[in-house]
This record gives sequence, C-alpha cells and structure tokens, in this order.
Amino acid sequence: MAASIASALLSNFQSLPSEEIIFGSSRQMLELRSQIHKVANADVPVLIQGESGTGKDIMARLIHSLSPLKSGPFVKVNCPAIPGTLIESELFGYERGAFTGAYGTKPGRIELANSGSLFLDEISELDFPLQSKLLQLLQDGQFCRIGGQKDTKVEVRVICATNRSLEAEVEKGKFRQDLFYRINVVNLQVPPLRERSADIPALMKYFLDLYSDKYNCATRQLSPQMIATFQRYHWPGNIRELENSIRRFVILGDQEILFGEMKIQRPDTLGDDFVYDGSMSLKLLSRQAVRQLESKIILNALKAHRWNRKQTARALNISYRALLYKLKEAGAVEALRFSEMPSLEGD
Ligand SMILES: Nc1ncnc2c1ncn2[C@@H]1O[C@H](COP(=O)(O)OP(=O)(O)OP(=O)(O)O)[C@@H](O)[C@H]1O
Ligand SMILES: [Mg+2]
Repeated sequence: MAASIASALLSNFQSLPSEEIIFGSSRQMLELRSQIHKVANADVPVLIQGESGTGKDIMARLIHSLSPLKSGPFVKVNCPAIPGTLIESELFGYERGAFTGAYGTKPGRIELANSGSLFLDEISELDFPLQSKLLQLLQDGQFCRIGGQKDTKVEVRVICATNRSLEAEVEKGKFRQDLFYRINVVNLQVPPLRERSADIPALMKYFLDLYSDKYNCATRQLSPQMIATFQRYHWPGNIRELENSIRRFVILGDQEILFGEMKIQRPDTLGDDFVYDGSMSLKLLSRQAVRQLESKIILNALKAHRWNRKQTARALNISYRALLYKLKEAGAVEALRFSEMPSLEGD
C-alpha cells in the first residue's frame, strides 16, 4: 500500500509524454483529434471517457500541451490510488495545525496546478464530501486549504477522466449531478480498440519500431497473419494490451506465443465477413462462438431488466446460481463487455 501511495504521489508531476499519439484513420479517432484541437484552446472543463487502456491519459496531456496554459504545470491526481483520508489534503492542502500531524503548511495539488491543468483521473472514485468541495472550485475557481480561513483563487483548467459511466453513477446516487454537469462541459469519448481495428496495423508498426529501438533489437517483421489476428482480437486491455503484446514480440520474436494467449482469452469475432483461416480447430472455434453468443444474450437480457440478476435469470429460464456462474465466467474473459454494467449490489 505504502509503495502504491508513494508512486501515486510521485506520478503527479510526470512530464508530458514524448511518445507520439497514433490517431490512425478511423472516423472516431479523426473526430476525437479534431475535438481535442478545438477544445484545447477553450478554457472549459473536459471529461474524457473510455475503457481502460484506450489512451485517456495521453489525450489529457495532449489537451494540456495544445492549450494556452501549456507552459504551466500539468498536475495529475490518480484519485483511487490515494487513500480516502489523504486525498482531501493532497487536493486542497492544509494549514499548520489543521489536524494532528499537520506540523507545517502544505499546498495541495489544486494550488500547484495554478496557471496549468489539473488532471483528475478516475474522478468517479472521489467520495461525496470531496465532490462538493470540488464543485466550488469549478463554480468560482476558488478553494480553501484544510484549516484555512480564506478562499484562494486559482486559474486551473480541469480535465477529468473515468472508465465508468458517470451518468450511471449519478443515477445510482454515487456521483453528484451538479458536479457531473460542471465537469461534463465537453465530453470526449475515446473508442475501444475493437471498434477501430483499421488503426491496428499503424499502432503495431509504431510500437514495433519504438520497442525495437528501445531494446536495441533488430526490427522484426509483422506477418500478414499476425496483423489479421490482431485485427480480429477484441483487446479487452485496449492499446495498453496491444503495446505489451508487441513489446513481448520484439523481445521473444515469437508470434505463436501471442496467438496462443489471444485464443485462450477470447474467441475471434465471428462477424459476417469472417473467413476461416485454419489458425484454430473448427471445434474450438465453434465452442468459443457459442460462448460469445451466450455472453451477448445475457448482456442484452441484463440491460432489458435494468441489471437485476434475479429477474434476468428468470427471463433466461436459468437458475440464479447458473447466471452468477456465467457472469463470473464472462467476467474473466469479457470483463470489459460488462464494464458499462452498474454495480449489481442489492438486486
Ligand atoms: N493513440 C495512441 N498512440 C500511441 N500510444 C497510445 C495511444 N493511446 C494510448 N497509448 C499508449 O497506451 C498505453 C495506455 O494509455 P493510457 O494510459 O493513456 O490509457 P488510459 O485510458 O488512461 O488507461 P487507464 O484507464 O487504465 O488509466 C500508454 O502506454 C500509452 O502511451
Ligand atoms: Mg489513465
């Protein structure tokens, strides 16, 4: 725990990435790039939404680096990585004697982001009282250190990111609606990799060159079979997973190992244009296709029954236990397909 807190605090002042951002040629990404260029100049809060590993962090940095505040600091706060008891003082700072152990005065991240950008990563993890304090900052640009007597004014561009549906969190009463409206002035959706498979070859080539250089390895060749397999895979970990796969390929030089891992995790998508390439047995392929179809049916039924598992089990004519088992199984291989699912407690 101590190590993760330390790394969370250290990561607050990461320098801007030197790596290139590959937007590719998909419609969603071209639109995202154009939105980012437009929004960077306007001093409005931005909410970046997208699954884990899609590039929310890198997009937040891009917005900052294109903004008029680019010469100011970019301060990142990884909300879930800082324990609840520490996050308030990390964000707002404190005055001497504000609480036991406050021997001196300490500025918070908000103050340190003055004349720059404050990036609140995984904002949905902030608890309600802190959400209220943040609301004040967004309303009038002011905040108060813990134990402080007066409000301080700052000029900060707030960028938030989350891989959850904040709308669903608001509906569940876990996220303040007024704060949601404040941070959601501009909403940027970073698409999952599986929805932009046309961009995969460019990303593969980019990471291949990057890591061949970094590890001083001879550049390996991307075979057509490897590109096709990568384009069919559904990438639950998105670009981060693809990056790691290519990194392993650069080091190990064995595409078969990667193919093995991909097949275990998930069947290839059987779209209308699917062409059987003989890379796995027909029996295995069929079994995986059935599971894929089953996951889809369950997901649709859950949605139709407002994520109530008991009603869903009844509708599917299976036992509640069987549904739980299937969900668990699906969670292992298709966790991200269910990521839009709100918490299922208490149904
Ligand atoms: N468009 C892109 N071009 C090049 N590299 C990218 C791109 N998008 C993401 N990456 C790389 O993928 C990895 C994951 O990206 P990032 O950390 O920005 O994702 P994230 O959405 O913030 O993930 P998480 O939700 O887990 O925090 C990083 O190493 C990043 O450099
Ligand atoms: Mg991130």
